[in-house]
Amino acid sequence: MAEKQPTTSTSEPPSVAALSLAETATEDPKKAAVEQEINPWDVNAATDENGNVLAFDYEAVSRKWNTKLIDDALLERFERVTGAKPHRWLRRGLFFSHRDLDLILNYYEQGRPFFLYTGRGPSSDSMHVGHTVPFEFTKWLQDVFDVPLVIMLTDDEKALFKENLTFEETMQCARDNAKDIIAIGFDLKKTFIYSDLKFIGYNGGHMMLNAWEFSKLVTFNQVRGAFGFDGSTNTGRIFFPMFQCVAAFATSYPEIWGDDPNSDFRNKKTAQIPCLIPCGIDQDPYFRLVRENSHRMKHPVPKPALIHSKFLTSLQGAGGKMSASIPNSAIFMSDTPKQIQKKINSHAFSGGQETVELHREKGGNPDIDVAYQYITYFEEDDEKIKKLRDGYKAGEILTGEMKKECIRLMQEYVKGFQERRAKVTDEILKSYMAPRKLEWKGNPNPKKPEKKEAEKK
Ligand code: TRP
Repeated sequence: MAEKQPTTSTSEPPSVAALSLAETATEDPKKAAVEQEINPWDVNAATDENGNVLAFDYEAVSRKWNTKLIDDALLERFERVTGAKPHRWLRRGLFFSHRDLDLILNYYEQGRPFFLYTGRGPSSDSMHVGHTVPFEFTKWLQDVFDVPLVIMLTDDEKALFKENLTFEETMQCARDNAKDIIAIGFDLKKTFIYSDLKFIGYNGGHMMLNAWEFSKLVTFNQVRGAFGFDGSTNTGRIFFPMFQCVAAFATSYPEIWGDDPNSDFRNKKTAQIPCLIPCGIDQDPYFRLVRENSHRMKHPVPKPALIHSKFLTSLQGAGGKMSASIPNSAIFMSDTPKQIQKKINSHAFSGGQETVELHREKGGNPDIDVAYQYITYFEEDDEKIKKLRDGYKAGEILTGEMKKECIRLMQEYVKGFQERRAKVTDEILKSYMAPRKLEWKGNPNPKKPEKKEAEKK
C-alpha cells in the first residue's frame, strides 16, 4: 500500500525536553531519532530520523517500568472470579498493563475489602473522550466489584504546574470537572469525590498527616528520579507527589470506613485495606513511589495495585494524543452532533486509499484508520467490529462508510453524557463531595481462602 501522510496534521514538533532524551539514539541505527517520552506531565511519541511521528510503543514502556502485560489468562481469571465478561477495553487491549491485579482478584474472591482510587488534574477545558474513558472504565470496575471509590481532583497540582493558573481558579475547575465526572454515572453511595485544596487537612488532617509521614520516607533523589525535577523546580511541585501517593492509603479517608476521625486517627486495621488504581500509564511513576515505601509507614500499607491504559488516539492518528488545547485533536463532551460529524469527516486520519477505485482494488488499513479505532472503543459487538475490519481490508467498506459508523457512535455517546450532565445540580455535587461513610457490598459469594496442600495433611 502506498505510504500516506496525514492530510491534516496538528501534531506538535517534539519538545526540547524530549529531544534531550535522544542520547541513546546513536547506539542503534534502527532506533528512533527521538525516543518516546512518557511522564506525568509530558507525553510525546517517538519520531524517526525523518521527523515522522511514530506510534507509542506500549510494550517498551511496560518493559522499562517493569509492569505486567494483561494477558488472556488474567482476563479468564477475572471472568471466573467476578462472573463479569471483561470490558471491551480489556478485551481490546486499551487497558493493557497492570501491577498486582491478580492479588486484587484474590482479595475479591475471598471477600476482603479493597477500594478503587483514581483522579484528574482539573482544567478549565471541557473534558474530551480521552478524559472520560478512564472514568467510564472505573465506573465499570466499581459496578463489577461493588467497592468504594475515591476520585481525587488535583487542583493543587494544576496550580503548581500551570504558570498562569491561580489556586482559586483551579479550585473552581475542580467543582466544574466534578460535575462532568458525576455525569459518568457513579453510584453516590459508593463514591467520594474531593478537591485536594478543600479536603486535605479537613477534620483533623488525617491525609495531611499521612503525607508528612510518607514524605519523611522519601528522599529528594527518589522524587527527582521519578519525575525529573531539578534545582529550579518550585518546592510545591516537589511536595505535591506526596498527596497523590497517600491518596492510595485507606486511612486518608476515615469517614468512608466509619472510623472516628478523632479517636481512630489513622486506624491500624484500616491501613491494611489496599486499593486498585485505574490510570493512564503516564501516572505510574507516582505509584511506584508508593509501592516502594508504603510498607514503611507506621501502620504498614499494602502496595497499591494498578491497571494502566494506553492514550486514546488523537483524530490525527497514531502517535498523537488527544489534547484539550487542540480542538481538532479530539471529540469533546461539549461538542454538538454537527461538530462531531464535521471533525470526524474532515480531521480523522484515514487508512483508506486515495480514490474509491483504488480502495475497492487494494482495500484499506484499519490499523491506522482513526474512525475504525474509535469504533473499537465504543462498539460493544465484537462480531460487528470484525465485519467492519474485514470489509475495510477487502475494500468492500469505504472510508466514508467507516466514518459514518464512527460518527453515529460518537454522537450517541456524547449525547447520553450531555443529558446526564444537564441534571447535575450544585446540590448533587455537594452530596458526592461530602466526606461520609460509604455503603457497598463487595463479593456476594466470597470463597474461604483455600488451605495450602501442606496444611491439609
Ligand atoms: N495527576 C493526575 C492528572 O493530572 C490526577 C490524578 C491524581 C490521578 N490521582 C490519580 C490520575 C490517580 C489517575 C489515578 O490527571
